[in-house]
Amino acid sequence: MNRLTLQRPDDWHLHLRDGAMLKAVLPETARDFGRAIIMPNLVPPVVTGADAAAYRDRILAVMPDGADFTPLMTLYLTEETDPADVALAHASGLITSIKLYPAGATTNSASGVRDFDRVRPVLEKMAEIGLPLCVHGEVTHPEVDIFDREAVFIETVLDPIRRATPGLKVTMEHVTTSDAVEYVMGAEGHIGATITTHHLMINRNHLLVGGIRPHYYCLPVAKRESHRKALVKAATSGHARFFLGTDSAPHTDPNKLSECGCAGVFSATNTMACLAHVFEAEDALDKLEAFASLNGPAHYGVPVNEATITLEKHDNPLPFPDKIASGEGPVTLFDPGVSLLWRVA
Ligand code: DOR
Ligand code: ZN
Repeated sequence: MNRLTLQRPDDWHLHLRDGAMLKAVLPETARDFGRAIIMPNLVPPVVTGADAAAYRDRILAVMPDGADFTPLMTLYLTEETDPADVALAHASGLITSIKLYPAGATTNSASGVRDFDRVRPVLEKMAEIGLPLCVHGEVTHPEVDIFDREAVFIETVLDPIRRATPGLKVTMEHVTTSDAVEYVMGAEGHIGATITTHHLMINRNHLLVGGIRPHYYCLPVAKRESHRKALVKAATSGHARFFLGTDSAPHTDPNKLSECGCAGVFSATNTMACLAHVFEAEDALDKLEAFASLNGPAHYGVPVNEATITLEKHDNPLPFPDKIASGEGPVTLFDPGVSLLWRVA
């Protein structure tokens, strides 16, 4: 097979940032994707409906001409989030979900949740109105090893929250372990999981063997190969609970290549080419549309995009740029470490 037409895909987890960075990276996503869930971890974060409306306006103001792309807004859950504000923002169609960051888990998560009991009223309201919760699933306790933080979160935070709030729709984001895959497959109730492009292609050796590779550093951190294989199996199975969320997270090179480098992999530009590579290697190109274009809309209860995109396989790799220029500095593109023959036509 050397041509594959799919319903236009969506990215159910994306960082667009703001200002000059937003302007530089938005076209990279708008080119191939119909919609994306826009993460609210700006500085300061997007916490109220008014913040989300203003952020959406700033995104729409720099939309490339002729783009077929809709940003889906989210709020950043804090211990002060007002259930009434959430309900209003949801009723007006402004927001698609609320994002839970455990405090300190990742980039700009200082205002996240420390005491999960304090957000109970918001979670109850979300269950009542059918608003999904997107979850960064890692505990932050210093005594928990960074490679175990996802598995411990599932057991000590996620499962208790879901049991206490039965109607709550949950998206477990950027799952990185077989533990998460098993939990999501086996759980009762409304749950789905996003998987990133890079976690399908790299394991922790890519990050650490032969020298440290800051451009592969992200959170949750890449795990051992057996976990990557479990993610590939889940994504390429076509299972309805797994869908694409790139977590494309631009940081400038100086911010990545520093003594304390930022977490984030920027993959918006080459994600569809990477996914075609991964799915072809598994002999599962026929499942790519489910993962990238169908399962996400079903989870969020929205229609599939009407437009289509076509992927073409070339005889020779067509290189992607190494970096995207932004007004804040260069942003290095995800290097999958393999030759990419597939391209969006
Ligand atoms: O690697 C990451 N980068 N993980 C996150 O959860 C946040 C993101 C960012 O905002 O840079
Ligand atoms: Zn993210």
